[in-house]
Amino acid sequence: MSHHSRDATGQGAPLAERSSLWLFGYGSLIYKAGFDFQQRRPAHIRGWRRRFWQGSHDHRGTLSNPGRVATLVAEEGAVCHGMAYRIGPEVLAGLDIREKNGYRRFMTPLWFDDGDSRGTTSKDEGDDEALVYIATEGNEAWLGEASAPEIAAHISAAVGPSGPNRDYLLLLAQSLREMGHNDAHVFAVEEALLALEGRRHTTG
Ligand code: BEZ
Repeated sequence: MSHHSRDATGQGAPLAERSSLWLFGYGSLIYKAGFDFQQRRPAHIRGWRRRFWQGSHDHRGTLSNPGRVATLVAEEGAVCHGMAYRIGPEVLAGLDIREKNGYRRFMTPLWFDDGDSRGTTSKDEGDDEALVYIATEGNEAWLGEASAPEIAAHISAAVGPSGPNRDYLLLLAQSLREMGHNDAHVFAVEEALLALEGRRHTTG
C-alpha cells in the first residue's frame, strides 16, 4: 500500500458519522457521479498510479467475459489526477454496493488542482483527506499487468450492464484530456483500441 494512505475498510461507522467527506474518483467517477454531491473539484492524490488491471464482472463485463477497468497501484512519487466530490455519508451505502467486485476503501491525503489545501472553509477534521475505492492485487476480479494492445483487445471484446467497456475507456481518456492531464497508460490503451478498431485519434 502507498505509505500516504490507510485502509478504511473497517471504518464504516466513523465515516457514516461525519457530516460530510471528500470522495476521490479516478475512473468513471471523473465523468459520471450518479449520486448527489455538495461540491465537485479537480484534485489529485499522491503515491498511486492508475492502471487498467482490475477485472469488471458487474459493470463493464460479465463473469464469463470480464471487462478491464481502472484501479490504483502504489508507486512512490506517482501523482494520480481525478475528481473530488464533497458528499454526505448517506452516499456511501450506494457506493459500497456499486464498487463491490474487489474494491476496498482507503483514506488518502487530497490535493486540489487549484492549489487550495482544503476544500471547505470550516476546516473540519479530515477535510484534507479523501475516501478512495481501490481494487488491490489478488482480489477475486484481479487481472493484473498486460501490454497496452492486450488490454485494448480485452476492452474491445467486453460489454456489461453499464455498457461497452470501450466507452468507459474512451470517456475516461477524453475527460483526462479535457482536464489537461497526460496519463500515458490510459492514452496508450486508448490509442491501441482505436488502432484495433481501425480508427486513429486526432487532436484538435
Ligand atoms: C472511480 O472512479 O474512482 C471508481 C469507479 C469505480 C470503482 C472504483 C473507483
